[in-house]
Amino acid sequence: MNAIRKLLEPDPIGTFRRILEGFTAWYAQLDGDKKKACQRHGFYLNEQLSDFARELPEATLAVIAGLMKAANRSNPLFKVSFAFDPLNAKFGVKDAYPFIARENVVRGLMANVEQSNNIQHLLSQVLLLDVPGHVVELGCHEGITALLMKMTMASFQSTKPLWVFDSFEGLPAPCPEDGEFTHAGMMAATQQSLIENFVRMELEPPNIVAGWFDDTLRSQLPAEVAFAHLDGDLYSSIQVSLREVYPRLARNAIVVIDDYVDERLQPGVVNPYPGVKRACDEFFADKPEKVEPLWANWKGHAYFRKL
Ligand SMILES: C[S@@+](CC[C@H](N)C(=O)[O-])C[C@H]1O[C@@H](n2cnc3c(N)ncnc32)[C@H](O)[C@@H]1O
Repeated sequence: MNAIRKLLEPDPIGTFRRILEGFTAWYAQLDGDKKKACQRHGFYLNEQLSDFARELPEATLAVIAGLMKAANRSNPLFKVSFAFDPLNAKFGVKDAYPFIARENVVRGLMANVEQSNNIQHLLSQVLLLDVPGHVVELGCHEGITALLMKMTMASFQSTKPLWVFDSFEGLPAPCPEDGEFTHAGMMAATQQSLIENFVRMELEPPNIVAGWFDDTLRSQLPAEVAFAHLDGDLYSSIQVSLREVYPRLARNAIVVIDDYVDERLQPGVVNPYPGVKRACDEFFADKPEKVEPLWANWKGHAYFRKL
């Protein structure tokens, strides 16, 4: 945060203007297909920028929002928004994620509507089949999908414990398998914001285990798991998630894997997390289960059921 603050504080409007100019110039030189992909994804000012923006005086923020709206008007396919929907709503900035913003449980950022449906249906199945074990999420960020899981469990009066794991320091350092989209520290969140999201929805917060998966999963994952949502984004994070979750899965347990893109099935879909499928391919090479891709519109999603 300090680096962002140092960069922005002397001249927030000028710096935002330059960032937006950089975005638009980069966008202008993309070819048609890539532009279309961007239309689906949109851009959002990253969370650190948006966090900083939230602290700015309202008048300054209004000017920045005006610049964003102008950038959005510069091309019908170009959309940029704040990472936080309340800011977009307050200043009328066009939402880069129309589906997510409307459909997500709280304010939505990470999972699109198809992914939310997939999680809800597959978790419901586990609950209806009474698969033994706990429900876990590895990579919870601010708890948006964890909330969806908790709401699904509540709708079946499930008393299964829900566990969420996260560094709360964002992603670890990516490796070559992860490509170039990610960087260490991306998507940092606070436990407090996760808890507040649950409290706002009047739901009991989950058991939270903070720390790197390498340090926490082996000793703190529940002994038996009925449903797991793996959302660690990176090759190494999915590797350790599979390694630790798999032996604990009950028979018929389901594991949903976020950001799994099979480029043969989804040609043209932007794949920011290629390490996810790579880790799955390697892990399942000698396992009887097969990872099945799920429809998730412009994103990647998959699951497997433990035999
Ligand atoms: C995409 S976000 C999770 C989003 C969340 N499931 C949702 O949809 O609301 C990925 C999260 O995984 C966490 N993460 C990734 N790799 C990790 C690791 N090796 N150890 C701990 N946390 C990790 C990051 O901190 C980040 O919060």
